[in-house]
Parts: sequence; C-alpha cells; structure tokens
Amino acid sequence: MSFYEDRVLPRVIDLMLGSAAMGKLRRRALEGLSGTVLEVGFGSGTNVPHYPPEVDRVLAIDPATGARRLAAKRLAASKVPVEFIGLDGASIPLDDVSVDNVLSTWTLCTIPDVDAALSEIRRVLKPGGRLYFLEHGISDDAKVARRQHRFDPIQQRIAGGCHLNRDHGQLIRAAGLEIEQLANFTIAGPKTTGYMYAGTARRR
Ligand SMILES: C[S@@+](CC[C@H](N)C(=O)[O-])C[C@H]1O[C@@H](n2cnc3c(N)ncnc32)[C@H](O)[C@@H]1O
Repeated sequence: MSFYEDRVLPRVIDLMLGSAAMGKLRRRALEGLSGTVLEVGFGSGTNVPHYPPEVDRVLAIDPATGARRLAAKRLAASKVPVEFIGLDGASIPLDDVSVDNVLSTWTLCTIPDVDAALSEIRRVLKPGGRLYFLEHGISDDAKVARRQHRFDPIQQRIAGGCHLNRDHGQLIRAAGLEIEQLANFTIAGPKTTGYMYAGTARRR
C-alpha cells in the first residue's frame, strides 16, 4: 500500500465520510447490529460512535494501518472493544461460522477481489447472521451510469482503487447471501458517487 493510500487518503475519507449527514446514514445502516461483529474496511473508525449497545465486540479488517491512528479518539470513547485481526477482506483470518454479523460501509467499492471478500464474509457468518451494508455503486439512471463507467479508471487511481460502477445487490446475491432489505437512494453531491445501496443480507 502506498504512502498516499495509507496516510493521505484516509484523512480525506475521514473528512468526507465523517460528516453529520453521513453519520445519520451510518446510524440507520447499523440499526440491529449485535453480538460479535466483523467490520470489513474499518478505515478510521467512523462507525465506532454508531455501534449499537447490543454489539459485544468488533473484529476489524483494513489494509490501511495508517488510518487506524485517526480512530484513536473514537476508540478511546467507545464501550465496544475493537480488535484488529487482518488486512484483507478477501482473506479473513477467522474460522467458519464464527461471527454473528458483518458490517461494511463504503468498502465493497474498493476491495480488489470483491467476489472473494463476499464469499469470505458468507463463510465466517453464522447461519442466520447478516451482512449490514451501506455502499455507493452503479446508478439506475442510464446517463449517470455511463458517466460512472467512463470515470471509473480515474476514480480508481485517485481514490485507492474505489470503483464507481459496482452493483452491490447483484454481487451480494451472487455470493449466496439472501438480500432482506435493500434501499437505493441518491445523496447530495456528485452523482457519480451519490447512488447508495443500503440494507442487510442474510446467510441462510
Ligand atoms: C472509502 S473507505 C471507507 C472506510 C470506512 N468503512 C468508512 O465507512 O468510512 C474504503 C476502505 O476500504 C479499505 N480497503 C481497501 N482494500 C481493502 C481490502 N482488501 N479489505 C478490506 N478493506 C479494504 C480501505 O483501506 C478503506 O479504509
């Protein structure tokens, strides 16, 4: 991981995705989360203040170890213990059926082998356990989608491998998880990054 991706980008992301408006989306996305939770793409810990009290502990994965330093204050104020267990969501160092739920916010866009990561998420989830997700992805507006395809290579270069054009509903279903809730909506700001996929998917 380059210095830019490990140290610079996490600060930019922390500012952009740490706003009050994003906090509102996070709170809603994390409702119902409980037990032992695997957070894939922990980043700078922007979800930490929003973990519901029913969460017992969080196992965190992220390759940007530099981003963790930005999480220090949030971690110090958190009642939920967080343990860093790995670097890559596509290779999760946990036993099969070992976590109650998994959380991913604005991360499935960035993991290079997202199919492998979703398959790993399914593997470690207990039956009945859920993936809670809040992601940006391909728009249902054909004009916006065309622009997303066009700008995707540039986005990947400036945003640490982030893709603009992933269909998270399709990817999650293809991994064998059952989508229970999926809300698509557009937030304020650039349309290429503003189309959201928020919901839960269950391992049967
Ligand atoms: C846009 S940031 C989102 C961070 C955080 N989840 C949030 O909501 O603010 C994308 C995150 O995905 C992480 N990431 C990149 N590749 C990854 C991988 N292979 N496995 C897990 N996380 C990864 C990045 O380091 C970064 O922290």
